[in-house]
Amino acid sequence: MIERAFLCISCWLLLIVFSALPPSANAAPSVVDGRREVLQGTHANRGFLPRSCRACHRKMNIAITGEESGCLTCHGGDDARQAMRDAGLLKGKPKLADIENSLQKTYNHPVLSINGVHQRREILPEDQVDVARHSECVDCHSPHLSEKERPFAGLRGKRVGNLIADIEQEYELCYLCHSDSANLPFNSTNKHSEFRIENRSYHPVEAEGRNLYVISLKDPYVEKAEKPNEVSRISCKDCHGNDDPDGAKGPHGSIYRGLLVENFQMDDALPESEFAYALCYKCHERASILGNESFPYHAQHIQGNSAAGVDGTSCITCHDAHGSSNYQYLIRFNEDVVLPNADGKLAFESQGASSRTGSCLLNCHGVEHNPKSY
Ligand code: HEC
Ligand code: HEC
Ligand code: HEC
Ligand code: HEC
Ligand code: HEC
Ligand code: HEC
Ligand code: HEC
Repeated sequence: MIERAFLCISCWLLLIVFSALPPSANAAPSVVDGRREVLQGTHANRGFLPRSCRACHRKMNIAITGEESGCLTCHGGDDARQAMRDAGLLKGKPKLADIENSLQKTYNHPVLSINGVHQRREILPEDQVDVARHSECVDCHSPHLSEKERPFAGLRGKRVGNLIADIEQEYELCYLCHSDSANLPFNSTNKHSEFRIENRSYHPVEAEGRNLYVISLKDPYVEKAEKPNEVSRISCKDCHGNDDPDGAKGPHGSIYRGLLVENFQMDDALPESEFAYALCYKCHERASILGNESFPYHAQHIQGNSAAGVDGTSCITCHDAHGSSNYQYLIRFNEDVVLPNADGKLAFESQGASSRTGSCLLNCHGVEHNPKSY
């Protein structure tokens, strides 16, 4: 308590000193979480924030909370931004996207709806089961250090032994809350386990993928990159983020379920269309999938057969969008739809990579597979 008060008094002095400095001085030291931090990166630009610290530490308040309201004065709607200009706290012509608008979309990070949970010195991933979950702007962006093209510069990743390294990759940021957290929601899974490169298959986020022959891939995506324009690695943001390609970048909110950049139909027994599985068709050629270039029964399963009154099903019934520890081809059956067969078996057996043969043991839409082979 005493230590904290002391820190705050010294910070208070810093704040007075540095906000009185001429606009040319754009770096000020401060102690954050026990390490020295210098205000640098975007928010140190006095061409944009002429009064430096005071743009965020209002009314000389250094013991600021990590809630979003102080950020939304500049990163929200036009009116709030105009008020900041009028107060002399924002200058120039920065391109400021409306993050508040993204956060108000149906599928979002609960920045606006959860208050008072974030703690200054918290260490993530959370190790207590009963702690409420949260995500504030400052959990994903360091206000003192964030930089253009490196919006999470300066954030610290998972502790390994006595070391906490800075976050370099986007997925390391996401894993702070979506992998080993003791308080994961019951319907959530550990994303690091799904993307682990030891898995039988995974979408190539942490490293290039294991399958050397993914026939449906569209330009510029390839299995292994050899030429400069080829892309063999993808990231969370290729699938999760704003539905509006011209809006603010980032996983703040989307109109699509799953906080996805494109629509993805996850329910069973609905018709196939370009829009229904737009997320997958962004990188996998629809004509190849429905033309059965890999799995000879893709079309039959995805489109069903309306004449025979047989419904189609979603990609998610057979594939996991992240990875599969048991099977190749991201196979992981959705057990809300796929049931064990009469022998109690629910499994996929393939005959090795790219052989285009395999068998399924299961029961789906009342059709017994014991096994069914291709
Ligand atoms: C873009 C907004 C912004 C600017 C500019 C900014 N800060 Fe901060 N600062 C914050 C936020 C938000 C927190 C709280 C972060 C959290 O809760 O994790 C914080 C926390 C701090 C802390 C830690 C306080 C504590 O209770 O431990 C210090 C010290 C600090 N800032 C000093 C400064 C100084 C000095 C400057 C100017 C050189 C400055 N900040 C500029 C937003 C800003
Ligand atoms: C006084 C206005 C102001 C406030 C308050 C403010 N920002 Fe910014 N922010 C800016 C400006 C200006 C930019 C640069 C935009 C550009 O490059 O055109 C920026 C850029 C960013 C970026 C983009 C990456 C980068 O560094 O360029 C992030 C992330 C960001 N701010 C987060 C925050 C967070 C989190 C808070 C609250 C703790 C906050 N900002 C508060 C003005 C502000
Ligand atoms: C500080 C913690 C935190 C971080 C970091 C974080 N998230 Fe989340 N995320 C949450 C919380 C809290 C929710 C609400 C549901 C829950 O409790 O899991 C959520 C929900 C989601 C959802 C589901 C939204 C929905 O509508 O179904 C997705 C997708 C998601 N996050 C992706 C990401 C990605 C991608 C990253 C990295 C860029 C990331 N998250 C980083 C805390 C975090
Ligand atoms: C190829 C597209 C794709 C990529 C890449 C991807 N996701 Fe997802 N993600 C999905 C889809 C589709 C869903 C909805 C179906 C589901 O829940 O599996 C989803 C659901 C989620 C959810 C909500 C369900 C849960 O278990 O909490 C979270 C959180 C999430 N993803 C995090 C991530 C993170 C973190 C990354 C990067 C490390 C990532 N995703 C990369 C497509 C993707
Ligand atoms: C769950 C993590 C998470 C949370 C919470 C979050 N952001 Fe972001 N934000 C990101 C990521 C990741 C990106 C980078 C996306 C990219 O590079 O495509 C980003 C991008 C941004 C950008 C740059 C947008 C652009 O179009 O260039 C700004 C500004 C920003 N965030 C501000 C904020 C503010 C302000 C808040 C709180 C009101 C906030 N973010 C909350 C993860 C988050
Ligand atoms: C009934 C289960 C099932 C459904 C539904 C399904 N798939 Fe598949 N898919 C498979 C199987 C089995 C394989 C492996 C074929 C092999 O042995 O090479 C496969 C392979 C793939 C491959 C890797 C080879 C290639 O074609 O490039 C992609 C990509 C793929 N599926 C995408 C999709 C998409 C997108 C959807 C939804 C529009 C979908 N699948 C729906 C079972 C399914
Ligand atoms: C941003 C681009 C992108 C999106 C979106 C995407 N994929 Fe992929 N997918 C890839 C790449 C790249 C590979 C190649 C990985 C490899 O070579 O192992 C791949 C491989 C696959 C494989 C084969 C994996 C293996 O190890 O055999 C399947 C199955 C697959 N994707 C299904 C899907 C489904 C289903 C969706 C929609 C939920 C989807 N993909 C969305 C880029 C994408």
